[in-house]
Amino acid sequence: MTEYSGLPEDQPSGVIVVSQSGHLTGEVTVPGAKNSVLKLMAAALLADGVYELSNVPRIDDVDIMSELLTHLGLRIEKIAVPESGEDGQKLRIVNSGNVITVAPFEIADRIRASVNVVGPLLGRFGEVDIALPGGDDFGGRPIDIHLRGLEAMGATFTFTDEGLIGRTTGLQGADITLNFPSVGATENLLMAAVCATGTTRIVNAAREPEIGDLCLMLRSMGAHIEGIGTQQLVIHGVAQASLQSTTHTVVADRVQAATYMSAVAMCGGDVHIKGAVSGHMEMLISRFTDMGMTIAPTTDGVQVYRDGRLSAVDISTLPYPGIATDYKPLLVTMLAVSDGTAVVTENLYPGRFRYIEELRKFGADITIDGHHAVVRGVERLTGAVVHAPDIRAGAALVVAGLAASGMTEIRDIHHIDRGYDDLVGRLARLGASISRVD
Ligand code: EPU
Repeated sequence: MTEYSGLPEDQPSGVIVVSQSGHLTGEVTVPGAKNSVLKLMAAALLADGVYELSNVPRIDDVDIMSELLTHLGLRIEKIAVPESGEDGQKLRIVNSGNVITVAPFEIADRIRASVNVVGPLLGRFGEVDIALPGGDDFGGRPIDIHLRGLEAMGATFTFTDEGLIGRTTGLQGADITLNFPSVGATENLLMAAVCATGTTRIVNAAREPEIGDLCLMLRSMGAHIEGIGTQQLVIHGVAQASLQSTTHTVVADRVQAATYMSAVAMCGGDVHIKGAVSGHMEMLISRFTDMGMTIAPTTDGVQVYRDGRLSAVDISTLPYPGIATDYKPLLVTMLAVSDGTAVVTENLYPGRFRYIEELRKFGADITIDGHHAVVRGVERLTGAVVHAPDIRAGAALVVAGLAASGMTEIRDIHHIDRGYDDLVGRLARLGASISRVD
């Protein structure tokens, strides 16, 4: 058992070296989802007791969230950490009731999910002081939808030089219509509503599988939530004292699953992606199939097969169940070597095209026009030295390197470590020529 004691001062940084790889074969296990586990950890603020989370990915963002929650008064231990292999780790979170509501600014501004302590802290304690959340830089990432919803429930907010102060004398249930189905806002409002007085209705709620996962954990803690998986969530507030701690298994990471699918797309091969939930990736699987891949659900994952050149198809990102913006760097990479020209439209983050410049270093033919990218497929990419600009784009550059002639070096891989659990080891076990030099 390892008690959590913060991140090392000097984070190991290094490079990933990739050479052109032949067909990938075998089986890879998908870890738990980053974008679920970080919110499940925040939910442990709501009730005292001992929580156990399984299938927790070994990623830096879990460590940063652990550091944040430790400062807020929780105790977090990694238990049953396998020495090697692809099984997820377990986290034990102990909430003994000594919670403070001031989040250290230097930690909170390192990840976007830090904003998800606002809902539970306001809901349970009526106060929170926190930095504005950090995370990947895709241009502006406001939190107005979070704040407007919480204000409708009776919270007030003041912006300071360093961040945000929220106060309430007690949250009241409210009817809240989101002007966009924001993932983070839906999660914050859910957690705030669990022990608010009366009923809260969130209309135009986000429907991502990670939100369903949070609802299931909150339910097992004693929350009354209806409409899970739909655009309208109804939360009947319960007394805080009636909530209890719980055990929960983190839902599989659909973006990591998509990463291994795209690796097969780039190299060819036949791989079983164990743990992938095809029902959480229907639109993506349909697009991959249009591009020429064969993807079939199995009893415990999906089988992915590709032989021959991919075909270009147009892609547009949308909130779930649409094609997630997090898949886009992978899709653009695949389109870079597909037969034909495709238009990729980004509808969530206008600034999320920064990795295109890195893909061009491989010889990709991509032009940007506003929130559209025009990708003209080339026969072959050429190895390059590139920098990972964020988590998903970093993974996409690794995948590009697998299909590029010669050698590729990916730098700034601390971005990849924030969200990928042993990407290099998993790809190497499938037969990729890849290594990490720390
Ligand atoms: N938005 C607002 N106001 C708000 C909230 C969001 O205008 O108050 C806008 C954002 O600027 C953006 C869009 O709404 O244009 C979507 O934002 P959303 O709130 O849905 O995203 P998020 O909660 O900040 C999560 C994931 C992201 C993922 C998005 C969309 C986490 C920690 N992050 O962010 O994941 O891209 O949902 O699916 O859950 C990643 O994992 O690499 C990542 C960036």
